[in-house]
Amino acid sequence: ERKNSKGRNLMDRTQYEPLMAALEERNSHKYAAASIVAGMEVGGEPVDVTNPANTAEVVGTAREAREEDLEAAAVRAKAAQKDWDRLGGTERAKILRAMGDAIEAERDTFADLLVREAGKTLSDVIAEVREAVDFCRYYAARAEEQFGAPIDLPGPTGEKNQLHLSGRGTFLCIAPWNFPLAIFVGQVAAALAAGNAVIAKPAEQTPLVAWHAVKLFHKAGVPADVLHLVLGDGVKVAAPLVADERVSGVAFTGSTETAKIINRTLADRDGAIAPLIAETGGQNAMIVDSTALPEQVSDDVIQSAFGSAGQRCSALRVLFVQDSVADKVINMLKGALKERVIGDPAKLTTDIGPIIDAEALKGLQDHCAKMEKEAKLVAKADMEPEAENGTFLAPHIFELDGLHQLEHENFGPILHVIRFKAAEMDEVLRQIGDTGYGLTFGVHSRLEGRWKDLFEKTNIGNTYINRNMVGAVVGVQPFGGEGLSGTGPKAGGPHYLLRFAAEHTLTINT
Ligand code: NAD
Ligand code: ALA
Repeated sequence: ERKNSKGRNLMDRTQYEPLMAALEERNSHKYAAASIVAGMEVGGEPVDVTNPANTAEVVGTAREAREEDLEAAAVRAKAAQKDWDRLGGTERAKILRAMGDAIEAERDTFADLLVREAGKTLSDVIAEVREAVDFCRYYAARAEEQFGAPIDLPGPTGEKNQLHLSGRGTFLCIAPWNFPLAIFVGQVAAALAAGNAVIAKPAEQTPLVAWHAVKLFHKAGVPADVLHLVLGDGVKVAAPLVADERVSGVAFTGSTETAKIINRTLADRDGAIAPLIAETGGQNAMIVDSTALPEQVSDDVIQSAFGSAGQRCSALRVLFVQDSVADKVINMLKGALKERVIGDPAKLTTDIGPIIDAEALKGLQDHCAKMEKEAKLVAKADMEPEAENGTFLAPHIFELDGLHQLEHENFGPILHVIRFKAAEMDEVLRQIGDTGYGLTFGVHSRLEGRWKDLFEKTNIGNTYINRNMVGAVVGVQPFGGEGLSGTGPKAGGPHYLLRFAAEHTLTINT
């Protein structure tokens, strides 16, 4: 039986030991990533990539795409796309399955990268590698099903009608740092599955994972001219491509602010109207009523708000608790937070790792300072001594009077609690609706009528009843929000590939 330094039982973590050994072997390896255009490693001078848990450690270097690299990627992608499209869904599916297998085979290298480049804990690493593999296999199956052959449609005698699905051209896939493998691979796999060429732009914080993934896509059989990787800053590297008419569509996952900038650029472009698939942030709430089971609520809240250091778009930000159970729930949360270990993500005993970088940390620290003045600090976790070496934030719980005290999403381990009275449920719903976001929603209630009513009255992409509200599974909980949270497509869902496709109707007079 294992316990963490705070006395919490860690029996189930023995399964991570083989992974720990593999990480130990790699922990001083330095990676040298570059942009990849037409299969060639290109870019400017190498820039250091550091470990957020230990900012003195250089994990590797990355070469940012130059203007000429962007130009070459746009030209080569456009020229190669038709042949890739003609290959058909069945053949593309074989390549995506090979990619799924390749990620699985390279699990230990991805684990090392996810821990040291992105600050992921071991349990998050395992889930993320799994999700990336699932995306490849799920979209392979949909490609076969939806892009394998044209769909025959009815018509009068002497007329044959068909619907053909094909790629739209070149998709620009812009990814965030918080799922640098799963979201990056998911976007690229979906765009490729539908018959598009892809220019992939990962977050500037996580170029190494993306570079390794693109090399595997090529090894798995994606032609070098069909998939290009452009590393670097969003404004320097992604923005010019968004403005480029040769880009036929943009798949973006990141902040609401950036999605709006991209949307405006696309709208102002000359030429064809290009679609935007945007998956953005949330001000995600959970409602706990007096019939909920406090122990279960506590476990689910801790996981939803503080797992992955709160750096999930799905994470719980605002907990509404009915006043009759509020003290009990808050006390349990305080106790549970004390048992969490916040420190080096490479250690088996760590629950919560670092914030991605100093800029993100500063934004969160400013928010905590504001909340300390304007709200009540309920709990603040302790951190391990090694947290001094990196960009860590102690998880905080604040009690607020209402949601109006929050202006925007705070992307880190900060939970806001608001008490409500039984008669105020409509007011709670109004506050949630007024945020304008619609990504995830949680309800803890034993009253079936209550949670059904809440589900019907809200417009939110993913609702979870009597459980945590993070970790959507590919093909099981298709994921994506609406309003300020995105344009609606559900990643890992049956309709996702269609958003990357053009539809052509063919009518033949026989
Ligand atoms: P971000 O918007 O800062 O960056 C995302 C990507 O956009 C990066 O690759 C960045 O380089 C690029 N970018 C920045 N400026 C750009 C511009 N002007 N034009 C084109 N591209 C540009 O977001 P982030 O900080 O990397 O990620 C965190 C955010 O992502 C949070 O808001 C989180 O909620 C959201 N997110 C949403 C989902 C979802 O599925 N809904 C999933 C993960 C993260
Ligand atoms: N898809 C991820 C989750 O559900 C972000 O937590």
